Amino acid sequence: GANSMWGGRFAGGVDAIMEAINASIGFDKRLYAQDIAGSRAHAAMLAAQGIITEADQQAIDAGLAQVKAEIEAGTFQFSTALEDIHMNVEARLKQIIGEPAGRLHTARSRNDQVAVDFRLWVRDQADAAIEGIDKLMRAFLAQAEAGADWVMPGFTHLQTAQPVTWGHHMLAYVEMLGRDKSRFQDARKRMNESPLGAAALAGTSFPIDRHATARALGFDRPTANSLDSVSDRDFALEFLGAASICAMHLSRFAEELVIWSSAQFRFVKLSDAFTTGSSIMPQKKNPDAAELIRAKLARILGATVALFTVMKGLALTYSKDMQEDKEQVFDAADNLMLGLAAMEGMVKDMTANRDSLAAAAASGFSTATDLADWLVRELNLPFRDAHHVTGSLVARAEAKGCDLPDLTLDEMQSEHPGITPAVYDVLGVDNSVRSRVSYGGTAPDNVRAQVARWKEILG
Ligand code: ARG
Repeated sequence: GANSMWGGRFAGGVDAIMEAINASIGFDKRLYAQDIAGSRAHAAMLAAQGIITEADQQAIDAGLAQVKAEIEAGTFQFSTALEDIHMNVEARLKQIIGEPAGRLHTARSRNDQVAVDFRLWVRDQADAAIEGIDKLMRAFLAQAEAGADWVMPGFTHLQTAQPVTWGHHMLAYVEMLGRDKSRFQDARKRMNESPLGAAALAGTSFPIDRHATARALGFDRPTANSLDSVSDRDFALEFLGAASICAMHLSRFAEELVIWSSAQFRFVKLSDAFTTGSSIMPQKKNPDAAELIRAKLARILGATVALFTVMKGLALTYSKDMQEDKEQVFDAADNLMLGLAAMEGMVKDMTANRDSLAAAAASGFSTATDLADWLVRELNLPFRDAHHVTGSLVARAEAKGCDLPDLTLDEMQSEHPGITPAVYDVLGVDNSVRSRVSYGGTAPDNVRAQVARWKEILG
């Protein structure tokens, strides 16, 4: 038979394939709480404006409360024929309260309804992301504080570059995550406008109060243009953009953990709680969680690209293409939250191997730059000449199979006669990191100051 929501114009029902491609209830049932909250706010406003009676509003409100309870109890019968969460809820409401249910959709369309539901859902997820990032930042901060002066190699091209401190490396992620958090906060502010009352696309002739529904749902204000209200999915795209950048950061640290936990590096030990064994190789302790976090960006970025591609070229206003927004965002949000939580667990649990870090920091001629800087400072060499002298010394050490501090003073002086025993001070990694006191540099004192700054910011 014809659909009860618009059956007036239709004589027959739809093909089964049409029903399958059209239905979104399989996934948009996740919006049930937002849908019901939006409807209750709408009904309260309709009554306050004298558009429906108080009695009808009370019946609607009680009926919606019952629908919500049924969904949460798992007794609600979802129907694919009813397409989506909006019509499933309304149809059940009609079964429960009868005629007044039909008055709920006055001055509203599914277009503004889905827009408000989805904004409310994405807003909650932005809050969840902010919270998840905050917790992860605290985990990194604790690592930074514990190891403010532990030396480790700093890398470029994954080649030993200069010694840095463990705390400095941990704080690099705190900075990244701080920006990630602010991106979600920023997106949240922009998305926090209510599209409810834009109706199908043009607004309505009923004397509605959009400011009241916006307030009731925790929005800062109603959206200002009805066409934009029902066709805008920027809020979802911004969420996905922020999620992609954050997931990219998680993926980078995940990669570092994979490298660092290897037998060749032994920089960190991951906890049993976040690793797995092998069914054949008894020695194995695999960093699976890190690997999965590293991979999560693939689907989060995939969702971002998918939604951009859905939205591009859509003439205003609503097109059914936009129903494809939800699964992408649901999947991206779920995986971001999971990635954040797993990374928090790993960072909390991991133990830095100070000895391996220190040994690695001292190898690979990591203090060559300190030596060149010393030649500039003490012997007044132009930096380019100092670089050349140091390069020759590195070549000598390499040929001899030793590190820079193992070269004799004679060997040093054969590359430059002005070199004195004082040079050995700057060849030690501890002195090297202690000397990097420029603002933002790796010196332990800087790290401690930045830890204090972040503690204050995070409260
Ligand atoms: N299920 C639809 C969606 O997710 C709801 C909006 C339907 N609007 C319409 N005009 N068919 O986008």
